[in-house]
Amino acid sequence: MPARLFLSSGDLVADRRYEFARDLQLKGDLAAAADLLAQAIELAPGFASAWFTLGEIRQQLGERDAAIAAFRSARDADADDRHGARVWLMRLGAEGLSDMPPAYVRTLFDQYAPKFEAALVDDLGYRGPSLLFKAVLAARRAVRKPAFFKRAIDLGCGTGLAAAAFAREVDHFTGIDLSPRMIEQARSTGLYAELEVTDMLTGLRGKPGASAELILAADAMVYVADLVPVLKEARRVLVSGGLLAFTVETHGGDDVILGEGLRYAHGEPYVRAALQSAGLALSQLETLSARNEDNTPVPGLVVVAAKP
Ligand SMILES: C[S@@+](CC[C@H](N)C(=O)[O-])C[C@H]1O[C@@H](n2cnc3c(N)ncnc32)[C@H](O)[C@@H]1O
Repeated sequence: MPARLFLSSGDLVADRRYEFARDLQLKGDLAAAADLLAQAIELAPGFASAWFTLGEIRQQLGERDAAIAAFRSARDADADDRHGARVWLMRLGAEGLSDMPPAYVRTLFDQYAPKFEAALVDDLGYRGPSLLFKAVLAARRAVRKPAFFKRAIDLGCGTGLAAAAFAREVDHFTGIDLSPRMIEQARSTGLYAELEVTDMLTGLRGKPGASAELILAADAMVYVADLVPVLKEARRVLVSGGLLAFTVETHGGDDVILGEGLRYAHGEPYVRAALQSAGLALSQLETLSARNEDNTPVPGLVVVAAKP
């Protein structure tokens, strides 16, 4: 687990009440923790971390309306919503699904960066890059073309695990990620010719048309609700015959949901429709899990599509 975000209220006493409340929350004394947080908020009404923690506790206590009210206050108290209160509002059904606040994703992964690979690969058995690699090789074999790519773009590149999997097949890798700390780790691998700290859609929009043979997104679309804008932009950036390969988490339904782990899960019919509406031709779609949760494989899809 990454370190927890704490935004000081600027009031020493309110901050102390918050710290005590967190201790109590961790020990399971939720009612006492909620009382202390209410006191902290009385002292500092714009205390985003206290509102957010109160939202979590109300939610843990099954008090949905009170949780929603607290998460709304947390979101209003921090214009960037670094805690991701809006993500919880989506999860609780108080708001429709939309993309995650960029500052939340950035904060989450900045905090994750130092232990990311150990947490994901060792603890969660992460295998997204190797699944993508096999799927891309199969897609190339199917059209009798060599799996060699002059220019590739890695969306949500993180620390660089996907570039490592494709290192021998790609000449020039560009990595795009929202998190500067993840990008620092990616830079230290020496695998990327270019790295950009930005949102994947913005990053793609900055690329000339027909300028990449391969676009990858390993375990990154799980933070994107609506895939269509990214897929359309990927189509524009790919050369004809170029490939887009990505993993998603999935579920039995048709559309997009926000799962328990606060990542989006895209139904297979949604993924197929999104590819079609972006003008990409499906080459491979396999039901494969890229990671475990509680030692159980999380349902997932590995998708490769081509620009016609
Ligand atoms: C679970 S990590 C996966 C990293 C890497 N692709 C891998 O396979 O190890 C997800 C990464 O996607 C990045 N990310 C999430 N949403 C993004 C977005 N909209 N634009 C750019 N990067 C994003 C996060 O910052 C994080 O580094």
